[in-house]
Amino acid sequence: MNFKIQYDCSNINWDLVCQTLKIVGMTSFTAETHKKAFENSHTVVFIFDDDKLIGFGRALSDGAYQAAIYDIAILPEYQGKGIGRMIVNNIRKSLPKCNLILYAAPGKEKFYEKLEFKKMKTGMALFCNATEMQEKGFTE
Ligand SMILES: CC(C)(COP(=O)(O)OP(=O)(O)OC[C@H]1O[C@@H](n2cnc3c(N)ncnc32)[C@H](O)[C@@H]1OP(=O)(O)O)[C@@H](O)C(=O)NCCC(=O)NCCS
Repeated sequence: MNFKIQYDCSNINWDLVCQTLKIVGMTSFTAETHKKAFENSHTVVFIFDDDKLIGFGRALSDGAYQAAIYDIAILPEYQGKGIGRMIVNNIRKSLPKCNLILYAAPGKEKFYEKLEFKKMKTGMALFCNATEMQEKGFTE
């Protein structure tokens, strides 16, 4: 397959971003909200199969020593082909001196362990939708 990587938000179909997040069961906001989130991120990575958007991810960062990864999502039919790894590795490359943190969707921890991430012992979160996040298994 002929995968193409894009490192900016030009010509992205935000409805597709929305749809992809919904399909894979991740939090989905309006297309406009996702556009704002990606455009305000330090690093964005979009993967295309020819012209078809098949996966993406982004990181927030101070650009110096701290960064956080969000919204890593691959269309189901493209999962298991190394695309998630490609996205995370490209984010790593763009933030070489930064600590990278994230919270995995419950059940997806092993994917990040494969990519050398370690479980944090003291991670804390103050979620807007605290009850929902607890019910989904993100917090104790
Ligand atoms: C989780 C996700 C991003 C992984 O991307 P992917 O392209 O399918 O994964 P890759 O093919 O790059 O896999 C890299 C390695 O991780 C492993 N891996 C991937 N998903 C895994 C999982 N759920 N459990 C265990 N291992 C997993 C692969 O077997 C592979 O290991 P290998 O190098 O030994 O072969 C993708 O499946 C996805 O979009 N899932 C739905 C959305 C989601 O949950 N995103 C993460 C939010 S935190």
